[in-house]
Formats: sequence, structure tokens, C-alpha cells
Amino acid sequence: MGLYQEEYRRKCCTAEAIAERIESGAVCASGTCLSEPCSITQALGAALRNGTRTGIVHHQTMSVFPSPFFDDTLQGKYSAVSWFSTAYGRAAFEKDCADVMPVYYRDVPGQYRQFIDLDVFYATVSPMDRHGYFSFGTTAAECQALAEQAKHIFLEVNPNMPRTFGEQQIHISQVEALCETDVPLQEVAPAEIDEISRCIGGRIAEKVPNGATIQLGIGAIPAAVGLCLRDKRDLGIHTELFSDAMVELIECGAVTNQRKTLHKGKSVTTLAYGTRRVYDYLNDNTGVAFYPVDYVNDPRVIAQNDNFISVNACLEVDLWGQVAAESIGSRHFSGTGGQVDFVRGARESRGGKSFIAMPSTAKNGALSRIRPGLSSNAIVTTSKNDVDYIVTEYGAARLRGATVRARAEALIGIAHPNFREELRYEAKKLHLV
Ligand code: COA
Repeated sequence: MGLYQEEYRRKCCTAEAIAERIESGAVCASGTCLSEPCSITQALGAALRNGTRTGIVHHQTMSVFPSPFFDDTLQGKYSAVSWFSTAYGRAAFEKDCADVMPVYYRDVPGQYRQFIDLDVFYATVSPMDRHGYFSFGTTAAECQALAEQAKHIFLEVNPNMPRTFGEQQIHISQVEALCETDVPLQEVAPAEIDEISRCIGGRIAEKVPNGATIQLGIGAIPAAVGLCLRDKRDLGIHTELFSDAMVELIECGAVTNQRKTLHKGKSVTTLAYGTRRVYDYLNDNTGVAFYPVDYVNDPRVIAQNDNFISVNACLEVDLWGQVAAESIGSRHFSGTGGQVDFVRGARESRGGKSFIAMPSTAKNGALSRIRPGLSSNAIVTTSKNDVDYIVTEYGAARLRGATVRARAEALIGIAHPNFREELRYEAKKLHLV
């Protein structure tokens, strides 16, 4: 048996044994999404339930499966901090089981380094290679920063986690203990694409030149844009999230990465989730490079890609061009994520454009998502000074470089026709038309 294999054997134990090494009150973190080591967190959940552990603090970005740390039946026995909320995080926040960390995604590693005194980093990884390295698989993001900071590192080795490449390995010598599991990776089905999303996708695709480098965000509209880009040529990928849409664009030949001006020939990302198709595509694929999020999402890095196109979704926009993407009024819904990072990066890219899109209405047409002012207590995600294009099914309004009055006119022009008169009336009162 080789040196590293021997070390692996010595450090290998059960998830329950790892949970026993984590003391009450420990501050723990896992990486984004599929990085959460579900056997270890389940074992910790059991220890919290039977009272052998208490007061554990758990930090995580974007939970995509039910974690014991959002379980309200364990309320009071742990504290959870959600660094970007999905449905699980927001339900936990509303039940007072979790707190929320406001942060640009690119700043997550830096904020851990500066503000969190981390006891434990635990993560799911792919099996060790013969040199003693594990890959963080679908999550580069904050994993290296957490590994640098933590006093104890525990891994859950899962052969279903794809082995990916880039800057995202950890060596057996850094690890205190590990356990093995073969649970299937959680699949996240792509959002359903309806007629409106398809129409918006088409409007954005019209403005994407061949040879552009793209980022697609979260939700039905970025997924629809992906479908509408299938006829393009020589696209490149530099994205926060590597999803089913990206695999589709690569496999249909629209993406070659050959005209990229940074990392030519490679798709660059920091995070992946989607269906099995994504995980199979990524496994052992040297065509995809995973880097930490403070690199991938750094606007200065994004801007080194000429003709950069960023596509993200939002919940509402006011007539000044302020974009709300993380709350519906006062209801916490999502997170800032990489939206602002990519809007700013695209702005600095030669030939770059950023698109923020939404259907023109919500609640079956009863509410306009273009509003005179944002709903009461809504959180601004992208500021009026950063925003570029706003897109609905009625068109694309370029706000960057436009005065507030020109913005109001353009936004009223892409609002649902049923609301245009009312918007104009309100805009007059605000001296915007
Ligand atoms: N008022 C009331 N309800 C609203 C609303 C509004 N202004 N806007 C949306 N809703 C409702 C929708 O009707 C929908 O309800 P349903 O689930 O009952 O159909 C729900 O809220 C979600 O809206 P939808 O437009 O379908 O959201 P989405 O799944 O497309 O996601 C964001 C949109 C903005 C939440 C998502 O893109 C996000 O989290 N963005 C922030 C971070 C980001 O952009 N990251 C990108 C870098 S990868």
C-alpha cells in the first residue's frame, strides 16, 4: 500500500465518529451547494437531537437539500447562517432557524478570512488520486479559503462527486479524518421554461454576438437564454454557475471557447449543479477549469474577457433602474450572489453587456414588476448606476448612459401594456416624464 493510501486508511472512519470529534459550540462551514457533506451533517443533526452536542454554528451558501441545520424541530440547538438562500434557507429564515449573511459572492472567501473564526471545515470530495489529492468536485467557490482557515478539516469521500480540475484540490495531509459514502448527488432540475421566458431568451440572444463569452445566472430566464444561443458560434464560458444550459451549449457546438481572451480553450466556473448530465459531463473533464469565486467573480478578471455577456434575473425594477433580486418587498427570497460581480465585470469588458431580465408581471398578470418605486422594504441588489439592460417579454431597455427620464420612458415601454398608463401617471408625479 502506498504512503498516501496508508494515511487514508488511518484517517478513514464513520460519519458518526467525525461528528463526535466536533465539539459543542464549534463554528463549522461547508462550501456552496453540493459541498455540504450530508452524512456528516446528518450525524451532527442526530447528536444535536439526542443532546450529546449543542450550540453548533453552521455556515453555508445555497443549500440544495434539506439539512439538519435548517430543521425547525432542532431549533435552539444550533445556529445556521445562510450566505445565499434557496427555498431551504428562506424557509429557515422565516421560521427564525437561520440568519442571513449579506455578501457579494466574490467576497465570500475574504469575509470568511476576515470575520469568521472557523473551527471546522467539512466538505464532500471525489475519491483521492494516487498523489493524495481530493478534488472539491462541483464547488471551488470558498472551499480553499475555508480549508486555510479551519482548525479541523473533515471530508466525506463520494465516488459520485465528479473529479474536476483547476485550483481546487485538498491533500490528505491537510485532513484530520474522513468518511466514505456513495449517496447519489442531489440533482437540481432546470427551471421550467414557459413562453414568456422563451420570448425574453430570444430578445437577449439577438444581442449576443458570435464569439462572446457568457455567464448565465439562476432561474428560468437564464436557462431560456441558453436554449436560444444554440445557433451561435464560438461562444466562450466564464460563469459562476455551470448548469445544464452550459452542457447543452457545449454539446451542440455553440461553445468552443476558442475566441476567449482569457483562459482560451477552457470553460471557467466556480460552482456547478444541475442534473446528472452536468455531473457526468464534468467528471475527469480537463476542458472545464474550476477556480475560487474571488477569482472567477472578480470584475477585473471578468473584464479581461472581450465581448462579455452576463445574463441574470430579478424580481422587480423601479423607474430609476434599481434592481431588486433578493427580496419580494420585505420578504427575504434569495441572495446577491454573483449578479453585481458580473454586471460590473461586463461593464468593464471591451464590447461587454449585462442583461437583467424578468417577466413584465407577477401573480398571473395582477402585478407589474416594473414599478414607480420598489415595493416597500425591497432590497436593492444591482444599483441604478451599475445596471445596463433591463429585459422583459416586451423588449430590452438599455439604461446605462440614459438619464432618469429616458430610463423611465424606456422602462414604461417594456412594461406590460395594462400597466403603462398607470406607470406614466406615477412617473409624472415623480418628475420622471
Ligand atoms: N411580486 C410578487 N411576486 C413575485 C414578484 C414580485 N415582484 N417577482 C416574482 N414573484 C414571484 C413569482 O411569481 C414566482 O412565484 P411562483 O414560484 O409562485 O411562480 C416567484 O416569485 C419567483 O419568481 P421567478 O421570477 O420565477 O424567480 P426565478 O426562479 O426566475 O429566480 C431570482 C429569480 C431573481 C430570485 C434569481 O435569479 C436570483 O436568486 N437572483 C439573485 C442572484 C443572482 O442573480 N445570481 C446570479 C449569478 S449566478
